[in-house]
Amino acid sequence: MTAPAFTPEDTGYFTEENSADVVIGRMKTDDARFREVMSAVIRHLHALVKEVEPTQAEWMAAIEFLTRTGQICTDWRQEYILLSDTLGVSMLVDAINNRKPSGATETTVLGPFYVSDAPRYDNGADICLDGKGAPLLVRGRVTDTGGRPVAGALLDVWQTNEDGFYDVQQKGVQPDMNLRGVFRTDAEGRYWFRSVKPRFYPIPSDGPVGQLLDRMARHPYRPAHIHFIVGAEGYEPITTHIFSPDCPYLHSDTVFGVKESLIADYRQVDDPEQAARLGLPNPFWTVESDFVLARPGAVG
Ligand code: BEZ
Ligand code: FE
Repeated sequence: MTAPAFTPEDTGYFTEENSADVVIGRMKTDDARFREVMSAVIRHLHALVKEVEPTQAEWMAAIEFLTRTGQICTDWRQEYILLSDTLGVSMLVDAINNRKPSGATETTVLGPFYVSDAPRYDNGADICLDGKGAPLLVRGRVTDTGGRPVAGALLDVWQTNEDGFYDVQQKGVQPDMNLRGVFRTDAEGRYWFRSVKPRFYPIPSDGPVGQLLDRMARHPYRPAHIHFIVGAEGYEPITTHIFSPDCPYLHSDTVFGVKESLIADYRQVDDPEQAARLGLPNPFWTVESDFVLARPGAVG
């Protein structure tokens, strides 16, 4: 009598051809979303390996890279987020989760330098606590998608100093909470504050992600920007930036965060009278930036 002919699917024997199906077939979970996600992970991972056909040494190098990426993580250093950022995955997840009706302000990455308890200020305050840098007046309005002002919206802002460092990167050099603050829009939806012109800076590049960028012949710089989280009761909050148009890295952001609509109009003003009225040294910079909030669940 001849042995029955089992297919690899019957037996679960693993072959190069059916590899992903066999691994997916072992899952017994009832969690439909988890099954969907893990099936896709397994399918794409096997397809990647079949496309690349790594040597054993190359595969071990990949595992060692991921090991080093985990080992450098601490409470304040998240190398996997940097990996996701520099491979464009953070911006892709952001895009998928922030499809907004047309007219709503576009979003971009949060980044690792946000601090949740920045000081609350009245409009007009100066968030530059050490007086260093080119003076800048930032102002604009928050409206809904119909152009109506949103009064009482909160704008949480943070940025680098003129040397391209956040306060949290220069403890003891910059005052704590330098170049951060929370502002509230007035009855017409307006906000305004004083600051200094931000500078481009490298993302942390002394670890595995920096080495990977190097191997890909990519620089680690982010173009100059000011971060904003803008929110108001009854609206979807937005996490975004405004970028300086004159920055040399504007078109090669290492985390792909630049969108055309987020490039702001910075102007240099040389007008001693206006400077005195605004409480700024002359000359100074201004940038005007409006934000548009959408209602929850609104999709374009
Ligand atoms: C930031 O803009 O602060 C940032 C974003 C992604 C990675 C590193 C820094
Ligand atoms: Fe930043």
